[in-house]
Amino acid sequence: MSAELRFDGKVAIVTGAGAGLGRAYAHLLAKRGAKVVVNDLGGSVSGEVKGTSTARPADVVVEEIKKLGGTAVANYDSVENGDKIVKTAVDAFGTVDIVINNAGILRDISMQKMTDNDWDLIMKVHLKGSYAVARAAWNIMREKGYGRIINTSSSAGIFGSFGQANYAAAKLGLHGFTQSLAKEGEKRNIKCNTIAPLAGTRMTETVMPKELVEALRPEYVAPLVAFLVHDTCPENGSLFEVGAGYICKDRFQRSEGVLFTPQDLTVENVSKNWSKIVDFTNGTIPTSNQDMMEKVMKNIEAAASQKGKEAPKQEAPNPA
Ligand code: NAI
Repeated sequence: MSAELRFDGKVAIVTGAGAGLGRAYAHLLAKRGAKVVVNDLGGSVSGEVKGTSTARPADVVVEEIKKLGGTAVANYDSVENGDKIVKTAVDAFGTVDIVINNAGILRDISMQKMTDNDWDLIMKVHLKGSYAVARAAWNIMREKGYGRIINTSSSAGIFGSFGQANYAAAKLGLHGFTQSLAKEGEKRNIKCNTIAPLAGTRMTETVMPKELVEALRPEYVAPLVAFLVHDTCPENGSLFEVGAGYICKDRFQRSEGVLFTPQDLTVENVSKNWSKIVDFTNGTIPTSNQDMMEKVMKNIEAAASQKGKEAPKQEAPNPA
């Protein structure tokens, strides 16, 4: 049997860990030695926060972890205040090694009825919230030369979903965020990946039959997430679908495409070549925007040489 993959000495923040998927991640990491910040503001699925007489969900999960012999502290801030969540980790445990951006809400509504508030709230919790926690942890991770970040997407974002234009936009946006952090963090051993989970939680119990909710236990998603935030994980910038014991990786595909000269590039020629433009027979798997730039540069060079000029050089961006 292979050695147990452990998290001793590591400090993990799991957002929205008072229920569902986040709770399962917090339990698994704590069981394997991580010190965990259990963040949850204790709102409803649609994001309302009301005063409650019952114990706060983050406290409940912290107690569960302590009973199992693990180490955890609670944090009740909204993910929009990521700095406060990271401060809880630093105050309690001195640092942060792992951020699992999991907190989420729904505001499902058709486009024709959507309000700006439905849109803004989803952006705030999912996109701004994931950014805010990662941003507050980022410089700590850079300085120590170690970090693991997970962002939570959804099949709604990857494929689109009726009545979820706000949620889908935020969820696919999170994978763009992941891919950029993966590139920026690479040299400092900061790895960032995205998951699109499927699990029976309060978020899905209203749209799934009871038997399916029970079959899709959050615990079946947690092992992938734990592996992705482990020291030994080779993956960076990737997207995984996961649920009910099934794990797979998704990626983009690019058709071979058609390179038009500026003279040939007419609406009629686009129409005439349409079947070639959308033909994936000789498709490639791009991993950066440089792949496409190479093709485009050929055209720019050809156009420049026709005019007897040197083509402009494409330099890799290197922001401070
Ligand atoms: P859940 O509703 O059981 O748990 C989400 C937790 O996040 C709740 O405890 C809630 O209080 C907390 N939360 C909400 N807004 C917060 C905020 N601003 N700050 C801090 N905590 C906040 O939902 P579930 O299913 O566990 O979802 C976890 C993540 O997985 C979400 O990002 C969700 O969008 C995503 N997801 C879930 C799927 C599923 O099948 N359950 C499918 C695709 C994505």
